[in-house]
Amino acid sequence: MSDIRNIVILTGAGISAESGLRTFRAEDGLWEEHPVEEVATPEGFRRDPALVQRFYDERRAGVQAVQPNAAHEALGRLDREWSGELLIVTQNIDDLHERGGARRVLHMHGEALSAWCTSCDARHRWETTLLDGPPCPACGQASMRPDIVWFGEMPYRMGEIFHALSRADLFVSIGTSGAVYPAAGFVQHARESGARTLELNLEESLGSRMFAETRLGRASELVPRWVDELLRGLQHG
Ligand code: APR
Repeated sequence: MSDIRNIVILTGAGISAESGLRTFRAEDGLWEEHPVEEVATPEGFRRDPALVQRFYDERRAGVQAVQPNAAHEALGRLDREWSGELLIVTQNIDDLHERGGARRVLHMHGEALSAWCTSCDARHRWETTLLDGPPCPACGQASMRPDIVWFGEMPYRMGEIFHALSRADLFVSIGTSGAVYPAAGFVQHARESGARTLELNLEESLGSRMFAETRLGRASELVPRWVDELLRGLQHG
């Protein structure tokens, strides 16, 4: 444990599941009702902007209607107490990490509570609807889209992420199926950098075989227990 200083954590929809936010690939997942191509691609937005705006209006309201769970709060505690480097890279567009107390959070797929003006490139915190085409607070144009990284678009701040992975002593993946790249490839990069690897997930994921250790269970139980271990210096493996 004492040789662990720099930590990178990757989170996915599974860490927010117990807060009441749906994941993507479960049988009742978001992609069951809304084919990805229609609501999470630039082509879908061009084809039917109202459908896409409605989909993200729903998610923007949804994330404000739920609360962080014990897993988010445990990572908030880790962020406060960890003196080494820490980066929480989340694929999630909710703000539950921040409301759970974490500060060192990087939203690689964007944020539900952010609007992006396609005219002036400004981004604004946004809590209400974009469906009725509100004017951009910076340039006045009615040209704001959800600040979400859609399929086919480049995830945000990849340079920072790979820099952190190359320095990591420990890489922990929480609540992600390992179905989507580049996030699914982070564990390989961490291993090549000599980092220890740990997966905390409800079930075996597509990437489980890449991890030195996988613990199966609910994030609200596994994550607080792991943070306690780490902060008490009992980290094994
Ligand atoms: N605790 C821990 N893990 C859980 C829990 C829970 N309570 N509930 C579900 N999981 C796990 C599931 O077993 C699954 O492996 O979380 C994972 C969720 O997988 P996905 O639904 O595929 O979500 P995610 O991995 O975040 O998807 C990645 O795909 O569609 C894109 O942009 C979207 O960010 C998303 C990305």
